[in-house]
Amino acid sequence: MCGIVGYTGADTAKRILIEGLKRLEYRGYDSAGVALERTSAAGSCELDIVRRTGKVAGLESELAHMDPDSTCGIGHTRWATHGRPSQANAHPHVSCDGRIAVVHNGIIENFAELRTELEGRGHRFASETDTEVLAHLIEEAYAEAGDLMAAVRVACTQVVGAYGIAAVCADEPGVIAVARKDSPIVVGTGASGSYVASDVIALIDATRDVVVLEDGQFARLAPEGITYTDADGAPIEPAITHIDWDIDTAEKGGYPDFMLKEICEQPRVVRDTLVGRLGPNGELDIDELGLTFEELNLIDRVYVIACGTSYHAGLIAKNLIEAWARIPCEVEAASEFRYRNPIITPSTLVVAVSQSGETADTLAAIRDARIKGAKVFGITNVVGSPVARESDGVIYTKANKEIAVASTKSFIGQIVSLTLLAMLLGQAKGKLTTGQIRMLFHELGDTAAQIQWILDTQREAVHRAALACKDAQSALFVGRGMGAAISYEGALKLKEVSYLHAEAYAAGEMKHGPIALIDPGFPVIAVTTKSPTYDKVVSNLKECEARGAMIVAIATEGDEDIKQIADHVVYIPPVRDAFSAITASVPLQLLAREVAVMRGCDVDQPRNLAKSVTVE
Ligand code: M6R
Repeated sequence: MCGIVGYTGADTAKRILIEGLKRLEYRGYDSAGVALERTSAAGSCELDIVRRTGKVAGLESELAHMDPDSTCGIGHTRWATHGRPSQANAHPHVSCDGRIAVVHNGIIENFAELRTELEGRGHRFASETDTEVLAHLIEEAYAEAGDLMAAVRVACTQVVGAYGIAAVCADEPGVIAVARKDSPIVVGTGASGSYVASDVIALIDATRDVVVLEDGQFARLAPEGITYTDADGAPIEPAITHIDWDIDTAEKGGYPDFMLKEICEQPRVVRDTLVGRLGPNGELDIDELGLTFEELNLIDRVYVIACGTSYHAGLIAKNLIEAWARIPCEVEAASEFRYRNPIITPSTLVVAVSQSGETADTLAAIRDARIKGAKVFGITNVVGSPVARESDGVIYTKANKEIAVASTKSFIGQIVSLTLLAMLLGQAKGKLTTGQIRMLFHELGDTAAQIQWILDTQREAVHRAALACKDAQSALFVGRGMGAAISYEGALKLKEVSYLHAEAYAAGEMKHGPIALIDPGFPVIAVTTKSPTYDKVVSNLKECEARGAMIVAIATEGDEDIKQIADHVVYIPPVRDAFSAITASVPLQLLAREVAVMRGCDVDQPRNLAKSVTVE
């Protein structure tokens, strides 16, 4: 949450900061600001601070009249934690003398004590944020050290919490001091200068060779390059990461929004996630997990820990792991898991699923599980992310950067990766033969074409269903087995992008309470694909139909009978029940987006949300 960016070099800082902030806006968008260095008429360096509430586009208009000559600055786009979204609380925050400015992503947990102490020493605060203490701490340390980088290092010894920080000082023109602990920071040098950002997407136009700073590492950016130090100020040489994904990912490419673009990318995600995973003898190749077949065979319990959409991918995985490997699998919200005392032994496998790889609750759960002795696998979309770094093994989903706040293509990448893991466990446990693995693998690959078929043929049916749902106050999503797991994700997608209240229930639970909600016209969106429980779901739907529900069915192509009870039908191709989540999720994603567009919502940046949830 929150995006920070910085640039120093020969180019126009204002343009680079605004472009970077727009790309980072997925991280938060309630206010934005920049600090730009300017040479005064007297020849001294001054900091121009511009902040405003709302999105980066508003800040851009405000900056339009400003001097374009600045070549060094820092910027921030905010998701409020401490202090409401307001101009005063927007970053950058400045020292009392206005000569030091700081942008920060994370949370300073001991800010209240620090603020009291700093106020006691005469510092004046202008905001309600935790971040502002950093500006004053750096100011104090700078008075002693006379060096910005050293001052930032000292300030970092005083704060408790998580931070990615970039700071500038008018007395050191052209220098940006950067620090990191538990919040992502990448830096890189391009042809015209040095860059820092919360995410590589903000600097990929300038360079593809970046340094992902590790906790406790510091970087000093200057126009001619970057130097790195540890917490003691000793020089270090961090590893370079080469970014190989395409910059097209950061552009809408003719689509009206990123959400639709990313939904349409899903056939590619399936294909890319499977590339190179099946060996010539039918054995699965997931070497990066770092466990032998013998070690996998010893696993006797699996926990999938995750949040939001990633949690729903876990619900799907549970069905597959228990069916194919015959070992118990529990799926837990990471925010619950970390505060329980789950039963963990050395033969427990914890699978942490996180698109961003930086969700605070998931990270904390990983750390807890490892302390308790579990082996932890991460499934993430972001190379070098904290989840990747802190897990014993990692599978990278091949979704490429996901920009829309609502997860779509990364969800499909997660399901495909978890499906491979379930197959691998089944093979290691001797429950699946190599022949079965080969067959499953090819059918899994076929889902790419099946998704494409849905995208090519079912958009009109989804549109009609969306028209029928758009004015509702509330909606229910139902299904059984895989269908129930998908329903949870369908309901989350609809509420997060359209603000229409939605809940999901296992269809068999309807009669135990939720059916009371149904009155004429109430939307019930049902996953009624051909599965062992198809008839049961249909019976549950008949009960809804009898009470006047408006039924939208996600059904298997060729199922004409479903039209007798459903007002709208969206088809998916026939598919093995185990893989139905991959295909049936697509109409639900399209439905959520269509309803949101019809209701005039910003589908890419829904209110109150942020893509990376780095707070508890
Ligand atoms: O990055 P993560 O997968 O850890 O994020 C978890 C959730 O915050 C995320 O899935 C959220 O629910 C999405 N906005 C859903 O579309």
